[in-house]
Amino acid sequence: MAEKPWVRMVTAQTPTNIAVIKYWGKRDETLILPVNDSISVTLDPAHLCTTTTVAVSSSFDQDRMWLNGKEISLSGGRFQNCLREIRARACDVEDEEKGIKIAKKDWEKLHVHIASFNNFPTAAGLASSAAGFACLVFALAKLMNAKEDNSELSAIARQGSGSACRSLFGGFVKWIMGKAEDGRDSLAVQLVDEKHWDELVIIIAVVCSRQKETSSTTGMRDSVETSLLLKHRAKEVVPKRITEMEEAIKTRDFESFAQLTCADSNQFHAVCLDTCPPIFYMNDTSHRIISCVEKWNRSEGTPQVAYTFDAGPNAVLIAHNRKAATQLLQKLLFCFPPSSDTDLNSYVIGDKSILKDAGIEDMKDVEALPPPPEIKDAQRSKGDVSYFICTKPGRGPVLLSDESQALLHPETGLPK
Ligand code: DP6
Repeated sequence: MAEKPWVRMVTAQTPTNIAVIKYWGKRDETLILPVNDSISVTLDPAHLCTTTTVAVSSSFDQDRMWLNGKEISLSGGRFQNCLREIRARACDVEDEEKGIKIAKKDWEKLHVHIASFNNFPTAAGLASSAAGFACLVFALAKLMNAKEDNSELSAIARQGSGSACRSLFGGFVKWIMGKAEDGRDSLAVQLVDEKHWDELVIIIAVVCSRQKETSSTTGMRDSVETSLLLKHRAKEVVPKRITEMEEAIKTRDFESFAQLTCADSNQFHAVCLDTCPPIFYMNDTSHRIISCVEKWNRSEGTPQVAYTFDAGPNAVLIAHNRKAATQLLQKLLFCFPPSSDTDLNSYVIGDKSILKDAGIEDMKDVEALPPPPEIKDAQRSKGDVSYFICTKPGRGPVLLSDESQALLHPETGLPK
């Protein structure tokens, strides 16, 4: 009699991250080895994360993946590299409850189903590939009982997308570029966990954009080939900044932290302009946000907020504490009020308690906001920002043991 087909599943949740010292440029395109170290802060998965369920069954006849409910191809080199590396580390698995026994050597022949879901719009340009590959690798490692620690797993996630390696930890994370040709020492380590600097508040402005941006992969390839500024940055600027940034994080020195974060974001965008053909990721709205933060920081005498921008126009604003975040939100809502047909509840999402602290409950309160005194003739422009996300530094990957949170059906291994 044929054995009843079995399905073994694991579900994990992994955060996204934003770099405060940027990764831009590879020395090896296939292994994804960077030209410099980078440092990031992990964002609270309550507001921005990927959930992934991976399943294995003797009845699956091929590897398959669904992203946000739609089947996608796994044939790309990056997926294949991650799958191969994890399979090579698989160990014996025994699930007594379900009566499943998988021997190490069986993993070569077994196929997996993967379902992934982002709790934020993939198209918003908020590092969805970072959380996605980190979650894929973390979940598969648990499914296959791989014994590697999160740093070792980060070197596999790196081969999916460079920035993904930093999503294997919470708090502040450093991606060490490494020296080895095979990339084994190019991995992420945690600098401090999310409790170390828990005063920080993060507000993301999702900026409306009309154009489709150059992908990071293509953009950084062009920069490596054509930008002399990138060579100077990688060799002379970043090594010093990494040391200073580590110290600022360790001692919670917000002034140095903000100065380094803003300078590094600006230099990354300068490298983009120095690339042939030049790449423009920020737009007028991004520039107005920078100017708003710079004017306020200057008027206060010490920085209240740091800004950083990735390969797109969205601003990630890191406020020193809750008080600074509350004032920042008031200034942002004055300059970028929601358009008449948007309601406040969907315009400011995430941790809404900051809105409350700012004394803003409805549109009347937004309209009554005073202009920021440090900005002369402050203009109000509707429709330039899609929405704001209020969040904070957050934790690293976790397993979700509750089967009701799985994205695949426990009996069929197909999307629910
Ligand atoms: C600007 O990790 O998306 O966000 O390695 O080619 O997948 P690939 O690129 P990706 O690049 C991220 C670049 C960045 C800066 C950063 O996150 O450090």
